[in-house]
Formats: sequence, structure tokens, C-alpha cells
Amino acid sequence: MARIPRQFIDELIARADIVEIIGARVQLKKAGREYRACCPFHNEKTPSFWVSPDKQFYHCFGCGAHGTVLGFLMEHDHMAFPEAVEELATRLGLEVPHEGGGAGAPKRADEPLYELMKDVARFYVEALAREPRARDYVVRRGLTPQTCEHFGIGYAPNSWNDLLRRFGGTEAGRKALSETGMIIERERGQIRDGERHYDRFRDRLMFPIRDARGRTIAFGGRIIEAGEPKYLNSPETVLFHKGRELYGLYETRRARTNLARLLIVEGYMDTVRLHQAGIDYAVATLGTATTPEHLRRLFRLVPSVVFAFDGDRAGRAAAWRALQQALPEVREGREIRFLFLPEGHDPDTLVGEEGKEAFEARLQDALPLSEYLVRELSQQAELGHADGRARFAENARPLFLKVPEGVYRELLLERLAEVVGLGPQRLRELWMPGAPAPAAEPPAPAPSRPRTAVTAGRGSLVRQAIVSLLHHPQIAAEVTAAERAGLEASDEPGVALLRELLDDLQAHPAQLAAQVVQRWHDREGGESLKKLLEREGVITAAPAAAGELRGAVARLADLAAGRRLEALEAKSRSTPLTEHELQEFQSLMSKLGHRRGGGA
Ligand code: GTP
Ligand code: MN
Repeated sequence: MARIPRQFIDELIARADIVEIIGARVQLKKAGREYRACCPFHNEKTPSFWVSPDKQFYHCFGCGAHGTVLGFLMEHDHMAFPEAVEELATRLGLEVPHEGGGAGAPKRADEPLYELMKDVARFYVEALAREPRARDYVVRRGLTPQTCEHFGIGYAPNSWNDLLRRFGGTEAGRKALSETGMIIERERGQIRDGERHYDRFRDRLMFPIRDARGRTIAFGGRIIEAGEPKYLNSPETVLFHKGRELYGLYETRRARTNLARLLIVEGYMDTVRLHQAGIDYAVATLGTATTPEHLRRLFRLVPSVVFAFDGDRAGRAAAWRALQQALPEVREGREIRFLFLPEGHDPDTLVGEEGKEAFEARLQDALPLSEYLVRELSQQAELGHADGRARFAENARPLFLKVPEGVYRELLLERLAEVVGLGPQRLRELWMPGAPAPAAEPPAPAPSRPRTAVTAGRGSLVRQAIVSLLHHPQIAAEVTAAERAGLEASDEPGVALLRELLDDLQAHPAQLAAQVVQRWHDREGGESLKKLLEREGVITAAPAAAGELRGAVARLADLAAGRRLEALEAKSRSTPLTEHELQEFQSLMSKLGHRRGGGA
């Protein structure tokens, strides 16, 4: 696989705002120069999770979780390393470069398909400009030319083969059209005019579906006027996975850098009209129910999500499905709310009628997930008597059990217990027999920070050198080749890591501790580096740190030399030294003697 260049990772670490990234997933409170929160990696009531913008590093004193912004994405969002890199890069508007495989980035196998989809989207946009019926329809739906352009809205001509003729002239062209789902293959007996394929989308207003990087990966098409089906989507293809993608997410992220919440609606038209009205944080699922994967993606971006559903029966059914999908994803720090529109309205018509402010006021009042859950279940049972409340409890249990353990679940349990009329403890025993109640007391508070720096002693020399290097990677340049060479003979614990660090940082200078930690994330010693970075609160200024580092390196070299000298001396007492050993002895003597002489 192509490697992501180290410089690019360094740049990501330097440019990413760890507070922003973590803050989108965990509620952070400012505390001096740092931020704290309840740790997302373990269950706690008092915050022991710290994020340091200076170090670009996070650390939990409760459970020991720690790392860089990339590490956080990997841990918290369960991303693989390349995904985490991609996520950060996308946020920063950077393209991830890949090393190896000749000049430039190697083309991926599906690159031509993206190219094709781009051309197809342009073809539809041009067709819209040419077709008065389609343009009329756009006007009647209240879409401005700017909106059409922003979303790349086009028109698929009323023809069985316009697209096929334009892009399917060759076997390769037809294969690509087929792979992207833009044409459909005819049954054997139905071949017409010698054409084996026909266009999937005909006489439809076309909404390109774009991935996080803005590449068109599929289309949704609405029939102009009446017809069946009203909406037609691209099938699942190598480029398009319905359960992952959200319509309008790319446009939302392009419009806004400071997203606080997202609005999830059902339709293409809803999304587009909301954006046009200034609610430029609306996205739509693609004719499927919201999946947990959708939610995970969204919660990577914002802490708060509001679902809007039509006020009709279908809308209420869809809301209930969304709730069920959402339960495994709820937890403290994430807010999920439900907005029900008045009967007969969808977001498209409502925002058109009442405008942005009124619509946003509704969002403000949307029902929190827990309240929606209680409301729905209460409607299925008579709460006035015990039988009804028992029924409520029975219906609530499987839903409750989908919620992951944590503060949110405890609060939900309390809320449900209140309705049932039993204490939360009792309800827990009934619902989760044998499960221990969460500890009433939080774990013992972690030692106050920062701890004082290393004390003297042999082992700590290596540590001191590494800590200095870590905090001020640029001082590596000040260690001379001779000083570095002195470390070769040392066998102190940890010295191998120190040597590696020095060599790496001399060859590839870095500025930030987090960059160094990231470089080591999958190398031996990576864990030790992370631990050293967070434990040692040493804030020595760079010039002094350089002195400390060189001092430690010199001391280590002396120790190694001294030990070698002792070994040679011991040997000389029983056997004469070889010529070579004698030379080494003399050079060690003069080296150490010189230093010692200088100091004495
Ligand atoms: P307009 O009538 O254009 O305002 O669309 P709408 O968004 O109000 O339509 P509706 O509420 O009926 O549908 C909401 C979403 O469900 C659409 O945007 C589509 O994604 C999907 N959908 C609706 N009708 C169909 C259909 O016939 N087939 C498929 N596959 N999806 C549909
Ligand atoms: Mn509609």
C-alpha cells in the first residue's frame, strides 16, 4: 500500500486543532491553558480527561488513555490510521498524498469512475439549461440558479440512450457506465436497436450525491411532474454505499467551518430548500432509514443532531425507526433530538412558508430523544394503573438495553423508573439481573498535575534526554556527531530509543511533541514516548533544554566509556590486551581524563 508521507502527518498534527476535533465529540470545559472533560473511554462522573492545545495531546488520568489527535480519532471513532488521516485532511481541506509508485499519487482503480461521474454530472447540468420543461419545474419548486449551481442540480433528458450515446461509445465506456449504475442491461430477448443497455435516469431532475471530498458518487432523480417512482436513486456501486452517505453533507461542510449541529431530513428537496433558506446544515439520508453508521459519521462532526420528520403517519414511523437506530449511539456529550412538523408539511414547504427564524425556533424546541421515547411508549400504555405501567416497562426494556453503559444510560434509567413508579435501583435489578450497579464513588482522583521533573540517577538520564527532546524536538540539531557517537556504546535502558529519536529528528526536524509521538505511534517505544510526554510537566525553555540534552548525552557517553574502561582493566589483570584493545584503552583514558581533568 502506498505510504502517507511523514511530512504530511506532521503537517496535519501541526494544523489540526485538537480541541476542536475532540470538542466535537466530547463536551470540553476550559481549565487554565487546557481543557477537561469526563473521559469518553471510561465511565466516570468527575472529569479526569485533559486536552492540551499546547502539546496537541490528550490524556486521561483515570484510565490512562492518551495520544494525539490522530490517535483520538482512531480510538474514539474506531478509525483505521489512513481513515483518521483522511478525516483530518478533509477537515483541513488537504488532499492526502501517497508515497511510492512512481511520480505523483498512484491512480486508484476507481479513479476513472469518479472522472466519469463528474462528466455525467456536467452533462446533466447542460441538459437542464437546454430543456425549458425542466427549467420551469425548477422555478416552480422555488430553486434559485445559485442553489442549483451549489448543489450541481441537473436534468436527465427524456430519452432511453442520450447518456449511453454520449459516454458509452466504447466497450470500456459502457462498462464504466454500468459499474456506476448509470445504465441498465437489457434482458436477452429485449435488445432494441442493437443496444444492450439503456439509461437508468430519464426525464428527471438530477441531484448529484457527493462524498466528503465533493466527488459525485451517485445520483438521486426526481421525476418531472408526475410518474412512478417519484424518486429514483443510483444502486449500490463501488463508489456508493447508501448506508454511509448523506445527501448535502459535502455542501454543509463547505458552507460552514464552525458546525454546532446538523439537521437530518428525509428528502433531497428538503435539504436543498433548507440550505437555500439559510439553514445550511441540513443533510438527508438517501431513501433509507438512518443507520448507526450515519450517526457515527455525524457525531464525528458535531455534538448535536436534530431529526426532522413529516407530521404524517409515515413520518412518525420513520422517526421511530430512527430512534431505534440511534439508541446504540447515544451517550453523554451527544445530543439527539426529534422535530415533528405540522401535519401536511415537510421541511421544504414549511421553510418556504415561514422562513429561517421560525424554522430554527422549532429546532430549538425539538424533543430530546429520552422524552420522545417516553412519549411514544406512554401512548402505547395506560399509565394510570399498574398493568399499564408494567406494559410500559416491558416495552421500554429492549430499547433501554440498546443504550451503551454510561452516564446517559443511568439518566435514562432514572427517567424511565420515574414513569414506571419504581426506584431506578429496583428497575435495574429487574432489567439487568446480576449486573452490578455502577460504582457510587468515582475512582480515586489521579495525582495532581503536573508532576515534578525527573530526579537524578542513572535511569533518569536517558529519560531526561528523551523528555527534553520530546518537548523541544528542534534541539536535536544541537547534538554534534561526536556527541551522538558517544551514545553507541551505552546500554542504559531506553538508550536505543534515544538514539533512534536523535537520528530521526536530525534527519527530519520536527517542531511539536505530538508530531514525534505520532511518528512513533506504531514503532517500538511509542507507548513510552506518550507516557513521558504526559507525565513530565517539565517546561524548560528550549535553550536550557538543549543544554540539558547535551549534558545528558555526554554523561551517558561517559558512563559507557567508564564501564568499558573498567572491563578492559579487569581483563588486563589476567590476560595481556591486544594491540587493538590497548589503543581503545588509551583513547578512553584520554577522553575521560580530559573531561574529568576539566571538571576537577
Ligand atoms: P417532493 O415531492 O419532490 O417534495 O419530494 P419529498 O422529498 O417531499 O418526497 P417524499 O417525502 O415523498 O420523499 C422523501 C424522500 O424519500 C425522497 O427524497 C426520496 O429520497 C425518498 N423517496 C420518495 N419517494 C420515493 C420513491 O418512489 N422511490 C425511492 N427509492 N425513494 C423515494
Ligand atoms: Mn416535499
